[in-house]
Amino acid sequence: MNNSPFNKEIIDKKIKELRIADPGKASIRVIVALVNLVEEETGAKYVRMEMGVPGLPPARVGVEAEIEALKKGVAAIYPMVDGIKPLKEEASRFAKNFLNIDVSAKGCIPTVGSMQGTYAAFMAAANVKEGKDTTLFIDPGFPVQKQQMMVLGQKYETFDVFHFRGEKLRPKLEEYLSKGNICSIVYSSPNNPSWICFNEEELQVIGELADKYDLIIMEDLAYFGMDFRQDFSKPGEPPYQPTVAKYTDNYILFISSSKIFSYAGQRCALMIISDSLYKRDYPALQKRFGGTDFGSTITLRLLYALSSGTSHSGQYAMAAMLKAANEGHFNFIEDIKEYGEKAREMKRLFLENGFDIVYKNDLGKPIADGFYFTILYPGMTGNQLVANLLYYGVSAIALDNTGSNEEGIRACVSFVQREQFGDLEHRLKLFNAHFSGKD
Ligand SMILES: Cc1ncc(COP(=O)(O)O)c(C=O)c1O
Repeated sequence: MNNSPFNKEIIDKKIKELRIADPGKASIRVIVALVNLVEEETGAKYVRMEMGVPGLPPARVGVEAEIEALKKGVAAIYPMVDGIKPLKEEASRFAKNFLNIDVSAKGCIPTVGSMQGTYAAFMAAANVKEGKDTTLFIDPGFPVQKQQMMVLGQKYETFDVFHFRGEKLRPKLEEYLSKGNICSIVYSSPNNPSWICFNEEELQVIGELADKYDLIIMEDLAYFGMDFRQDFSKPGEPPYQPTVAKYTDNYILFISSSKIFSYAGQRCALMIISDSLYKRDYPALQKRFGGTDFGSTITLRLLYALSSGTSHSGQYAMAAMLKAANEGHFNFIEDIKEYGEKAREMKRLFLENGFDIVYKNDLGKPIADGFYFTILYPGMTGNQLVANLLYYGVSAIALDNTGSNEEGIRACVSFVQREQFGDLEHRLKLFNAHFSGKD
């Protein structure tokens, strides 16, 4: 690594300081801490691909509504634990306009980020029936949800869906579901990190199996509408964001404001529970938490206990953003297309310098350009690649953090500035020259 543009001793010193046993295996937040320290000491900037920070300004309509709400004094008042009325109503309209599904305002519940939504949902789902206590993750996935499982002390199973797309999905899922212990299935689509997107046939399979085995589907739509191969941006007009909600009523959808509205800092998201799941009585759940129906258990038992609701002003921001999108004044998808364009450029730089894409295909078509992509360097494990790239000023996390069986890393495009593309190209050239033995 004699050609590496960063001082190896400083990086090694910081790795020791943070007591990181193997930087290749480090979690997102540990890589963030390490790179912050190295940047501070060297004064040099990394090409930071480890964390899904939006990287765009927050949606103005949200900021203005939030300021207005604060001026009116909402900060002094506890919000309703199941959300303010205007937000619930706009969320229900949004579900109709952009997913083409009917769900009452009652089932549209704000949460402190989707993180809190999944936390509460995991807790509820694992307690609806005795013996059904295990969550199935269709991986690769968002690593922090596994951490939530660990914190909750709940059981999960997982498989990498890469080799089980299309008609292979049903038998693979039934392998797990037929054992009878699975209470819920979790996935994101578009998928963090591979950016595969389930098609209608796959969602139909998932929906049918949810009914057959009576389990809850948790569909994480953190990247709502971001399969830029189609235009999902027109309210009330097809095409609509594909969703399992078309095929089953056993669903909870998670819509985060973090990425689609660049509103991550305010920690505001929506949990959308179908009408029939909301009002369902599960005796085991009632026994465990002392609540009534499923929806009220989520709001009045779990969310009440976790944070007693979601930021009051944040809810006004979210209500305004959804309203503007519903009325067609705010094309949120146009604003975030920049991610897809950056991904195309960044992939080209990696491909020109000896790297390859890991999850290359999406049901026979090239994977779309979006918020994340996955890359490998021949002959290197994902962990080795993360560790080696650190010395070349590029930070990322390894795919094994995400439940993937493939060797490679996850690249997040959002935080990388276009002005850094020159640095990225130069660093990848040096990396390739060294590891291909040409330097
Ligand atoms: C798939 C997925 N779900 C959930 C989240 C977290 O969303 P929030 O910021 O609303 O908690 C992320 C953030 O990166 C994500 O990638």
